[in-house]
Amino acid sequence: MKKKTALIIAVILMLFTQSMAGDTLQSIAVAVADYLIAGRSVVAIYQPRINDPLKSDQRLTPEIYEEQVSRKFMDISGIDITSLIPSDDFRKALIAIHESAKEVIAEAQPQINQPGKGFKGFIPAIFGKRVGDKLYKKSGIVIKQTSLKFRGEYNKPDDFEAAVLKRLETAKKGNTYFEEKKFGDTRVLRYMVPLYIEYACLACHGRPAGEMDISGRIKEGYREGDMRGAISVIVPIK
Ligand code: HEC
Repeated sequence: MKKKTALIIAVILMLFTQSMAGDTLQSIAVAVADYLIAGRSVVAIYQPRINDPLKSDQRLTPEIYEEQVSRKFMDISGIDITSLIPSDDFRKALIAIHESAKEVIAEAQPQINQPGKGFKGFIPAIFGKRVGDKLYKKSGIVIKQTSLKFRGEYNKPDDFEAAVLKRLETAKKGNTYFEEKKFGDTRVLRYMVPLYIEYACLACHGRPAGEMDISGRIKEGYREGDMRGAISVIVPIK
């Protein structure tokens, strides 16, 4: 009898810690995606200033970025990104993506401040790609921007992403998707959150389809509110 009770308690504890681990993974995935959404929107808001050929400095400094992204991320998540200490995996992941983004902004200063040049090519998608590369090196977490109509080859959806993108396109707006699965040799949590076309995106991704945008790429012909693609996150399960 005693053994049985101990076993039941062990099983309950196991289930409890497993679901705790699941919750943590999900909250990590959501938080890093929310952070990237916040960072992307800061880079989007600063596009006119970055691309103004007459201003040659103080466009998007690491200090301005930090101040703006903290505010945006607070609005989305209620978390103060500037005062985190790395006490657990959740906080470590958030610190890693914030550090990554600050490094990207610091390293992009020569690109952002090129004198006399209009369009500089420092757009949300490029920011996101660079942040993803750094975050992966720091934490093993993959974050990627993807779309069925991808422009960058490295944004091409894998089979899982392509299937989820199709599901999200027909799902209710704002729905997201989680799945625990094998990825290569490891088990991971995969998370996808859709990105929708806003007014600010139309200059490059809007109509008419086939026309060239200011980055010299071909517009896809989206309308405001269309799903443009998704942020895809892969968190390894330790
Ligand atoms: C200045 C032009 C421009 C604007 C404005 C712009 N984008 Fe993009 N976007 C691009 C370019 C160029 C790429 C490809 C970047 C690359 O090669 O990595 C891209 C890539 C993307 C991708 C990754 C998938 C892909 O096609 O490779 C997503 C998602 C995306 N954009 C969403 C948006 C959203 C949402 C907005 C508005 C909030 C937006 N973009 C505004 C130019 C723009």
